[in-house]
Amino acid sequence: MTASQWATWPAAVAQRAERGSVAVQARNRLQDLLADLRAEDTEEEENNVPVATKLEWQAPLAVLQYPDPRLRAVNARIGVFDETLRKLAEEMFEVMYQDDGVGLAAPQVGVNVRLMVFNEAGEKGKGEEIVLVNPQVINLGKSKNLFEEGCLSFPGIYADVERPSKVKIKAQDLNGRKFTISLSGFPARIFQHEYDHLDGRLFHDRMAPGVLAGVRQQLVEMEDAYLKANPGAQIQRVA
Ligand code: CO
Repeated sequence: MTASQWATWPAAVAQRAERGSVAVQARNRLQDLLADLRAEDTEEEENNVPVATKLEWQAPLAVLQYPDPRLRAVNARIGVFDETLRKLAEEMFEVMYQDDGVGLAAPQVGVNVRLMVFNEAGEKGKGEEIVLVNPQVINLGKSKNLFEEGCLSFPGIYADVERPSKVKIKAQDLNGRKFTISLSGFPARIFQHEYDHLDGRLFHDRMAPGVLAGVRQQLVEMEDAYLKANPGAQIQRVA
């Protein structure tokens, strides 16, 4: 597999976004908001998802490709904030940078828990590394925008997806501390893409019919290749 095949949602897309004034404003706003992180005393949310009290994963991590069923599996809330979790987040950043990504969700590396990492700069040592444990959407902005997305689990596939341009969320950090944060621009875009992964939703599920039609053949080819390598696997094919 060549580097370019792995280069989904690459730095080029991030750079393109950075050139836009909206993204630059968003970055400035994000930095302000990050400085303003605050702990919240909200009560523990009732959720219908299981809670993981023990994290199990093995290095080295590798990004799963569509249509691996683990991308559609239920992701457990994280109930343990230990060294294993910190190490997982660290390894996820490594894999993400290696594959030229700007965001990665735990199910993409075969760990079905509610954890995501992202860095809009897409480069180690640049930008801001954000780790969200058990994130929840508090509200989505009314205005929406179209933006070309890629996904590390879909090498070579890029397509426009419409999403709200702002989102307010709450989450926990690696120590279990709760906080709320408002995102807009590119970080809001990345967050929503990764958040979908935590709900087993993939970016083509969000594409408009005409956009999906443009990538359907590539998706079917990935499905066929997966079934050839994994005979009898239960996969969810593109509609
Ligand atoms: Co993705």
